[in-house]
Amino acid sequence: MSFDFKVKDLSLHEAGRHQLRLAEHEMPGLMALRNEYAGMAPLKGAKITGSLHMTVQTAVLIETLTALGAQVRWCSCNIFSTQDEAAAAVVVGPDGTPEDPKGVPVFAWKGETLEEYWDCTDLALSWPEGDGPNMILDDGGDATMLVHNGKSWEAAGQVPPTTDEDPEEFQVFKALVRRTLTEDAQKWTKVAAQVKGVTEETTTGVHRLYELAKTGDLLFPAINVNDAVTKSKFDNKYGCRHSVLDGLNRATDVLIGGKVAVVCGYGDVGKGCASALAGQGARVIITEIDPICALQAAMEGFQVARLEDVVGEADIFVTTTGNFNIITAAHMQQMKNKAIVSNIGHFDNELDMAGLAKIDGVVKTEIKPQVHEWAFPNGNSIIVLSEGRLMNLGNATGHPSFVMSNSFANQTIAQIELFTKPGEYDKQVYVLPKHLDEKVARLHLGALGAQLTELTKEQAEYIGVDVAGPYKPDHYRY
Ligand code: NAI
Repeated sequence: MSFDFKVKDLSLHEAGRHQLRLAEHEMPGLMALRNEYAGMAPLKGAKITGSLHMTVQTAVLIETLTALGAQVRWCSCNIFSTQDEAAAAVVVGPDGTPEDPKGVPVFAWKGETLEEYWDCTDLALSWPEGDGPNMILDDGGDATMLVHNGKSWEAAGQVPPTTDEDPEEFQVFKALVRRTLTEDAQKWTKVAAQVKGVTEETTTGVHRLYELAKTGDLLFPAINVNDAVTKSKFDNKYGCRHSVLDGLNRATDVLIGGKVAVVCGYGDVGKGCASALAGQGARVIITEIDPICALQAAMEGFQVARLEDVVGEADIFVTTTGNFNIITAAHMQQMKNKAIVSNIGHFDNELDMAGLAKIDGVVKTEIKPQVHEWAFPNGNSIIVLSEGRLMNLGNATGHPSFVMSNSFANQTIAQIELFTKPGEYDKQVYVLPKHLDEKVARLHLGALGAQLTELTKEQAEYIGVDVAGPYKPDHYRY
């Protein structure tokens, strides 16, 4: 079998395969779905383009989708998040060799340029038969945005001219769409017409989907995987509780105990990060705009403050808001010498990296890849992780397998749902029904040795639920 792919080095496949084997053991949800659907191929005929961090855990997701019958093409959704050995293992496949790869086409490596990033996204969306995917699996919405903007700019006859206001990333994106339209003026209309649906992994991508649905511009049905309870209340929270420390440690190895850490945002990700930093003995300060989340932080014993009032006190900063311009260049100049500045939200615009680079006399020194010291003319410097991109994936390897098994079991179920029941979903954004959420949790209990109590029939009647669930109304918040 021969196919196109672009990864760093196929000779890394064996190292990747070993890690995949261990990850499979830690991903009981995905492995249970492989068993449940063995021989049934519910995704036969599905051509899935995935845009999601190309890590070891994602490799297990990809091989689950193919085990269920799908064809897959993949790119990463961030320039720094690929684990090259995982990408190599997926391309080579369990039965292939670097000379004769038998796996899945992947277009991703750690340290892509922005141009390469968008090329890879385009390649993952461009199937060899000259058409596109019929399903998208997205994280952050970049693949979905390429199809939507591509189609609407196609209809308007041109990509709007680049302006100075456009962030660099958007300029590169526009250049890519311009090129694709020169090659095939109908490309994105054709791709959009085939897509049966998208399943979206993260808060930021889901936000984009709801915006499209609100204006009536969503081109196909979408499942919001993020807001499955077994996704955002686990991956965003407990995943970040693990991987925020991993990112800080691998990048700087600074002792966290006794330090002052500011966490901007106290949503699911912020809660996980704050708890991890406090667990290491840091004094944690939270910034929030939402009074409910601010009160939650106060109830947990965290100081809640405005960034400008504490910016000179802290040793470590982590932004978790999914919003932009949270830490400005002016904030950075007021920080303590050698303060560590990082973002774990989906996009790098939480930190004003462009503003930082424009400071008069600022000098950037690479300490090692994805760790940079920015020195100011007054002699102070700050350490910025992953150039402002999500540090748990740029400086470490993202969330551990067990938590991703929850997220990716939801992704797999959502893909089967949209692919096999196209008539049941409109061009809207849906969440998975609660009984499937409960199923995902159930699939993970055994591996932890947890024994679930069963309701008696009488107890079930008394609280008004079915013995087999769902156990909570949809409005329950967990
Ligand atoms: P969320 O909506 O639960 O939390 C964000 C919080 O930030 C909210 O409570 C909001 O009120 C607050 N916020 C907004 N603007 C703010 C401001 N100017 N100052 C202070 N606080 C502000 O969202 P969630 O699920 O916690 O996700 C946050 C980001 O992290 C998103 O971009 C998401 O896509 C990303 N994410 C990253 C992961 C990773 O592995 N790096 C994993 C999961 C999510």
